[in-house]
Amino acid sequence: MIRFLLLLPLLSACGWMWDQPKAKAFRPAPLQVEVPEERVRFGENLNPEVRLGVKPEGGFAENPYTFAEADWVRGKALYGSFCAICHGVRGEGDGRVIPLGVPKPRSFHDPGVRAMPEGYFYFAATNGFGRMLSYKSRIPERERWLIAHYIKRCLLDAACPKEVMDAEVH
Ligand code: HEC
Repeated sequence: MIRFLLLLPLLSACGWMWDQPKAKAFRPAPLQVEVPEERVRFGENLNPEVRLGVKPEGGFAENPYTFAEADWVRGKALYGSFCAICHGVRGEGDGRVIPLGVPKPRSFHDPGVRAMPEGYFYFAATNGFGRMLSYKSRIPERERWLIAHYIKRCLLDAACPKEVMDAEVH
């Protein structure tokens, strides 16, 4: 910080960088690429079940993957990295940042949330939920399903192997 302050007079001596006169116009791009309007962005999936987590006829999408036990441990680690900070390690809505002013989410053990299918958690992670933002660009699709699977099977239904429950993940 001190070093930065010492540099300040020097920086102001240069004037503002965005105010530089530049007479030379930009060259037109040598290659004009025609982009068809219906073009799909790289990595974008048009299937609404994948893209949004809803079935075309309505309702939450079904998990298209079968996960092995090793995957579940990874699901636990991913949940711990991306969701637990707000939702709490057990999904009780008591994450570490809640006392710092982040709105408190409903506990996943609340009967209203507990009754929801796995696709609900995928939906929330994909599209965001109220004041919670979307994790679509940060967590790949299969991993979002894996997190949803972990929440539903391990945190809510207690239907996952003891090894997964006991696994230490970082
Ligand atoms: C920065 C904090 C934060 C993180 C990280 C976070 N959430 Fe949320 N989440 C919230 C808040 C706050 C709400 C409630 C939003 C509202 O009601 O406006 C919420 C709501 C939800 C809900 C809906 C609960 C209900 O009331 O029905 C689900 C499901 C959910 N989050 C899943 C996830 C998953 C899965 C992850 C990890 C990929 C995650 N969240 C990460 C803050 C967070």
